[in-house]
Amino acid sequence: MPTAATTATLAIDGGQPVSPTMVPFMKPQLHQQDIDAAHAVLESGMLRAATRCAELEERFATISDARHSLTCSNGTAALQLAYAALFSPGDEILVPAWTFIATATMIVAAGCTPVFVDCLEDTFQMDPEDAAKKITPKTRGIAATHLYGCPVDINAFQALATKHDLKVVYDAAQAHLARYDGKGLGAFGDVVTYSFYATKNLGTGEGGLVTTNDDAIARDIALLRSHGETEKYLHERIGFNYRMNDITGAIGCSRLDRLPQETAARQAAAKRFDAILAEIEGLDAPTITATAEPAWHLYTVKFDPTQFTCTRDRFIDTLKAEGVPTAVHYPRATSDQPALAQWNKNDTPVSSGLTSRVFSLPMHHALTDEHFDTIAKAMSKVAGAYRG
Ligand SMILES: Cc1ncc(COP(=O)(O)O)c(C=O)c1O
Repeated sequence: MPTAATTATLAIDGGQPVSPTMVPFMKPQLHQQDIDAAHAVLESGMLRAATRCAELEERFATISDARHSLTCSNGTAALQLAYAALFSPGDEILVPAWTFIATATMIVAAGCTPVFVDCLEDTFQMDPEDAAKKITPKTRGIAATHLYGCPVDINAFQALATKHDLKVVYDAAQAHLARYDGKGLGAFGDVVTYSFYATKNLGTGEGGLVTTNDDAIARDIALLRSHGETEKYLHERIGFNYRMNDITGAIGCSRLDRLPQETAARQAAAKRFDAILAEIEGLDAPTITATAEPAWHLYTVKFDPTQFTCTRDRFIDTLKAEGVPTAVHYPRATSDQPALAQWNKNDTPVSSGLTSRVFSLPMHHALTDEHFDTIAKAMSKVAGAYRG
């Protein structure tokens, strides 16, 4: 058991660390059942999208309260399919300045204009009031991310969409099984997109999925996903090849068996982190959007530089030396990325300012009591040492 929490000297300065071994930051490993499922597909020889992708689609639709669900090659492709189905070149689409880059870049890929909306300081989620201010006669849509696995203020965005006749895409790449107002995320908006990248709550290596409740949108996305083909070698519209394959589908189905229980473990971990942070002034737990039940892809803490004598970077380097790795999501606001400079109006100051103030704690279903103990002791030791 770690015993060094009371040792005054920080490990970064040569003292004894709280834990000699690192708390694992994530736990993406496969179980034997996942490997067996993939093997069975390999042995069948049916490598393309077939029964296992269809099963994943059906089960994912049910579990997220959506009518239609379509697998695809990754979460970026899912966004591109959604935007291509809903928007036309030249449309302005409101998008968070604080999200993963693909939410915004795929708007550009669809020939549309991303209009950056700031995030809220407490939830880190897209700010509906700032979004309302940025609506122009060219605005056709909202692309809102359920960032870190925590749903955005869906009611506010749906009200805005109704008022201005906008389509809404929710990027739920980080939010499998999150809920809002007691319903799965598939119940809201025009299209919801997911990623099954290796480190996601449901990771298949690469992979993605879109859900919708609209029959015509589902048909369009199915066409766009596979060369716009309506029957063998008849192509009704320009499309892509963004199909999944059955090896990925099988891994997805197998991991989906465990997802509810792994999500519950993440939710329990978040409660333990809330309790740890409640004791430490200057480190704020994430605030949850009203009526949201997060899936906790990431648990991201806000560092108040006025409360400490060190920077956020020094704080997290010091935590790492004590045995607690962290990561920064994100080191740069999406609006401040060089690739998106031409659309950056420098009017999203909260997002730009968060880059030097946030860090994410280890978050996964396999955290143990010992890990929580290490994290609590390390956070309190480091915060105590740098108390301003
Ligand atoms: C919010 C968000 N959107 C989109 C993506 C893109 O997903 P993928 O990596 O599967 O293309 C990610 C992946 O990191 C993400 O976190």
